[in-house]
Amino acid sequence: MPSTPPGARGAVITGWGVALPDKILTNVDLESMMDTDDEWIRDRTGIVQRHVGGTTAGLSTEAGRAALDMAGVGPDDIDALILATTTPDRAVPASASTVQDQLGLTSCGAFDLNAACSGWVYALVNAHGLIAMGARRVLVIGTDTLDRITDYHDRNTGILFGNGSGAAVLEAVDGGGQLLGWDLDSLGEAESALYAEIGGVLQMEGREVFRRAVRLMADSATNALTSAGVSADDITLVVPHQANIRIISASLDRLGIPLERASIVLDRTGNTSSASVPLALAEALDEGRVSDGDLILFVGFGAGMSAASAVVRWSPNAAEFTDDGANDE
Ligand code: COA
Repeated sequence: MPSTPPGARGAVITGWGVALPDKILTNVDLESMMDTDDEWIRDRTGIVQRHVGGTTAGLSTEAGRAALDMAGVGPDDIDALILATTTPDRAVPASASTVQDQLGLTSCGAFDLNAACSGWVYALVNAHGLIAMGARRVLVIGTDTLDRITDYHDRNTGILFGNGSGAAVLEAVDGGGQLLGWDLDSLGEAESALYAEIGGVLQMEGREVFRRAVRLMADSATNALTSAGVSADDITLVVPHQANIRIISASLDRLGIPLERASIVLDRTGNTSSASVPLALAEALDEGRVSDGDLILFVGFGAGMSAASAVVRWSPNAAEFTDDGANDE
């Protein structure tokens, strides 16, 4: 299992932002579109509403701008933009190119990364790799507009998915930075459990995805905890992929972490794929749920089936990290 090597140049998150389209589709709205009901959806998923509309580039630009403003960095300061998405606006070019232009980032590489709902955690780990190789700042965005590949008349899938975006600015520091350990995983043999053909809509074997997701999340999180050299008890906040409250609850049970330690936004957003982890992170940070020195566990899973986890020791202040800093404890 790979882990962050000693001496690697690290990074801290210095700004974050989110975007959700204005239009809301409630469970009650869905009752007139398919054979379902509000109570069933709440009980079986925890979801009450989801946002629809917007474009991947438009939502990314809004979330990215908010993150840049909070970090206090200008258009020349970003070396790379990674846009995690499974719903780019066009086949070519990458939606990241559109976002780079709309944000006016003048000297920056930009690319899309598709690891389905694990995408933002994959991007977070890859951004740390770029920073270890010399990048000063990386803008990491997760955005999906799943309404374009969801059939809202199919009760197997239409109750779950929505649109959104979340972004974070990662800034290089002299010492080890926030990332203590990570895990990237893929179970290609299970890809038929959840897929959409090009131009098609999502097809899903719900029970199979559920069963595999619980195990994948717990295994990936355990790998990241081991790689970080910490235990589940040390974790203050879990930021899990927001697919179904029962999946989150069952996987945290396996890890021995109480559900109260998780940030949950799925009741208001549904499953927003690549956006779900940064949306849940931003809400927890905005609510002051994390203090300096606390450990955050990110856990994503999704189609592929992919999984990704990361353990981060929180500090929003780049100056606190030196060669003798928190990561070397
Ligand atoms: N509304 C009302 N009833 C529904 C329904 C809906 N939207 N969908 C299924 N049902 C019915 C079924 O027909 C079945 O009825 P029956 O007992 O009379 O046959 C019953 O509810 C139970 O169906 P089941 O498929 O076993 O439900 P479930 O508890 O597994 O919940 C999911 C279905 C899709 C919510 C759940 O399997 C799930 O969340 N899976 C993972 C999906 C996911 O996270 N995908 C994204 C991964 S990134």
